[in-house]
Amino acid sequence: MKHLLKLMDLSKKDIVEILNLADQLKYEKRNGIEHHLLKGKTLGMIFQKSSTRTRVSFEVGMYDLGGSALFLSSNDLQIGRGEPVEDTARVLSRYLDAIMIRTFEQAEVEALAEYGSIPIINGLTDYAHPCQVLADLLTIREHKGQIEGNKLCFVGDGNNMANSLIVGGIKMGMKVSIACPDDYKPDAEIMKWASENGEFECTSDILAAAKDATVLYTDVWASMGQEGEKAKREKDFAGYQINDEVMAVAAKDAMVLHCLPAHREEEITAKVFEEHADEIFDEAENRLHAQKAVLVKLING
Ligand code: CP
Ligand code: NVA
Repeated sequence: MKHLLKLMDLSKKDIVEILNLADQLKYEKRNGIEHHLLKGKTLGMIFQKSSTRTRVSFEVGMYDLGGSALFLSSNDLQIGRGEPVEDTARVLSRYLDAIMIRTFEQAEVEALAEYGSIPIINGLTDYAHPCQVLADLLTIREHKGQIEGNKLCFVGDGNNMANSLIVGGIKMGMKVSIACPDDYKPDAEIMKWASENGEFECTSDILAAAKDATVLYTDVWASMGQEGEKAKREKDFAGYQINDEVMAVAAKDAMVLHCLPAHREEEITAKVFEEHADEIFDEAENRLHAQKAVLVKLING
């Protein structure tokens, strides 16, 4: 594993190794055991979009591991003034030990990896959010004891989260169902791959998708960069919500996850959110532990 650009590039074995190391690092942090596995190493973090969890968890993660992290806003970098990503990649490779980037185009992340000579981590693109899904898998394993055999139902936009959840879920042996309006389906190639490699369905019928689900998941109706479509999306996604009616058809002990930030009474009711807040904030915490494992694996090999 040289980079983390998207989950499709990882084997089940890679994912299990990351989750196992994350468990170990979480246990050690909880018990005050220092684990300076990245002493003297520096991570550059390029942000072309806002972030709370990704920024703070990567920065704290590098600190925990004995290294340091640089926050690089694209407003301040020359990349924001048109310096090619190919040149940025080659320059930053001379200073840093790894780069985390949050941007719009998946192609930009792939270009950094192609032209740079250090590990590149996708901290969210319009296409994928692999770091989030590694934390989600860790949380499912903690709460359910195992990942395999669960039914994961995602309700809402077929966006970066849906794409990565499909790939991560199918690779780890979950059934995956997506409930979304017809015009907002996940990536067609990912859906085709999922149908060929596991139990997958995509439907506009929320209750059918949620039936017997052991893990329910949702995300905002309008992602970063889609603010101009907010009013249209509010209409198009009306009803694509995790609420009591959806919970009633899911498995009795179903857990609820949300990558956050959440918009209460849009994609999830405040009631369901608060009833499952322990799971949702464990999930947010697990960003830290999962990403530390990714950093160690990529930088130390
Ligand atoms: N879930 C997630 O990636 O959160 P941020 O946008 O706050 O980083
Ligand atoms: N789909 C959301 C996820 C945020 C973590 C977005 O891209 O804005």
